[in-house]
Amino acid sequence: MGCATSHPLLPFNPCCLCSLGLNLCCSCVNSHNLKSLDLNGVTQFMEKLEQKKERKDVRIVVMVGAGISVSAGVPDFRSMTTGIYQNKMDKYSLPTPQHMFDIDYFISDQGPFYDFVKTELYPKSSTLPTVFHHFMNLLQEKKMLSRIYTQNIDMLERLAGIPQEIICEVHGTLSTSSCANCKKQCDGFTTMRRIRKGEKPTCEKCGGPQKPDIVFFGEKMPRKVQEQMKLDMPDLKKCDLLIVAGTSLAVQPFASFIDAVPRSTPRIFINRDSDGSGRNGEYDDPGGQHLWGKCGNYRDVLLRGDCDKVVTNICRDLGWLAELQSKIKTFADLHKKKGSTNVEEKLFPTQMGERRGSKTAWGAIGSTSSKERLDARRSNASEKVRRKSSGKLKKSESERSMNRNGGSISPSHRRKLSKSNSNSSLTSVGSAAVHP
Ligand code: OAD
Ligand code: ZN
Repeated sequence: MGCATSHPLLPFNPCCLCSLGLNLCCSCVNSHNLKSLDLNGVTQFMEKLEQKKERKDVRIVVMVGAGISVSAGVPDFRSMTTGIYQNKMDKYSLPTPQHMFDIDYFISDQGPFYDFVKTELYPKSSTLPTVFHHFMNLLQEKKMLSRIYTQNIDMLERLAGIPQEIICEVHGTLSTSSCANCKKQCDGFTTMRRIRKGEKPTCEKCGGPQKPDIVFFGEKMPRKVQEQMKLDMPDLKKCDLLIVAGTSLAVQPFASFIDAVPRSTPRIFINRDSDGSGRNGEYDDPGGQHLWGKCGNYRDVLLRGDCDKVVTNICRDLGWLAELQSKIKTFADLHKKKGSTNVEEKLFPTQMGERRGSKTAWGAIGSTSSKERLDARRSNASEKVRRKSSGKLKKSESERSMNRNGGSISPSHRRKLSKSNSNSSLTSVGSAAVHP
């Protein structure tokens, strides 16, 4: 099966010939830049994109899941040996592990979730961005990244310094919280702090339970995500390259985003165990399924392995390794200097600033303050000087650890999405999130 693009002048589907390597249909012609469906093909394509950016905008979209935070010590959901659904839910006697994130269950009993927040969910001061997060930030600094769609609620993208305006937190965030009953918003930091202290925070207005603004089963997607989807996700529509990493693609509508990119856009899937077939492969949209491993595949590349290692290899092949290492080192140095408050100040800046009656030390959530940028530039400059003089980088702790995102979501596709609640894997667009 190929891209099934018909050609007005040909009496047959030209994609049949693409599978023979002739690349005649529009999609395949446009994407034959992907010389091979492997790491080499990916890096060659990225190299071209880097050259192209001098002349026109380059738009890489990255879609990520729990797997990119695993090396930061945050467990994913579905890995058999380490995933939280298999390994961390027994003590709560829930009907199913997923009930931990079910809104009806939460309203009836906040105990399990609050305990889970206390013991597992809260980003601890030791939870720091991974190599993959820094790689995304590097792409952003190179002006090649247009959007990150993240299912993660750990806010490590923000902490890595990636500007908030390009991050779309599809499953919400811990940075704010609201009343599960009347939806009145309240201070996210205070809610988290009270839960951690063993309290059950309630709404000032109606007395309902406070819940961090992360999307639960049976809850609507965040307004921002709904608005982006109404606009047919322009970032995805114009995307030059889609990188999907560390997700099982088991949850909708997130998994369907991969179908919103043009059919000529190469899609890279980086994953340690899964090949993404856990996603709901029910739609018959010809572009509706990934093509890796299938006959006629012309654009999908499965790079199996640890995402930190895979992007390190990509950077090495692109000649970006020193920049990536320098970025990680700069972050590590800053973090060491500022200590653990760094994490809380950066994730909850408004609240921290208000509490002190002073301006926040970090500016907008997730954005890099000018002081921080200055520090980073100085550190980069001195790093370059040092590299020149020593000929090689001294290995820091973080460097040592390295050795270790045209179709849109069409109306018909949307209708399918809203109908398709089977496998309980779907959230209809703008409606409740249901997780498998
Ligand atoms: P999953 O746990 O379903 O998938 C994580 C994927 O990352 C798995 O396929 C792993 O094989 C892979 N993985 C783990 N470590 C990796 C590593 N170091 N390098 C590369 N790949 C690695 O997590 P998500 O797909 O993010 O929603 O789950 C989606 C949603 O399901 C979550 O956002 C969560 C859950 O219900 C909420 O609860 C709000
Ligand atoms: Zn309330």
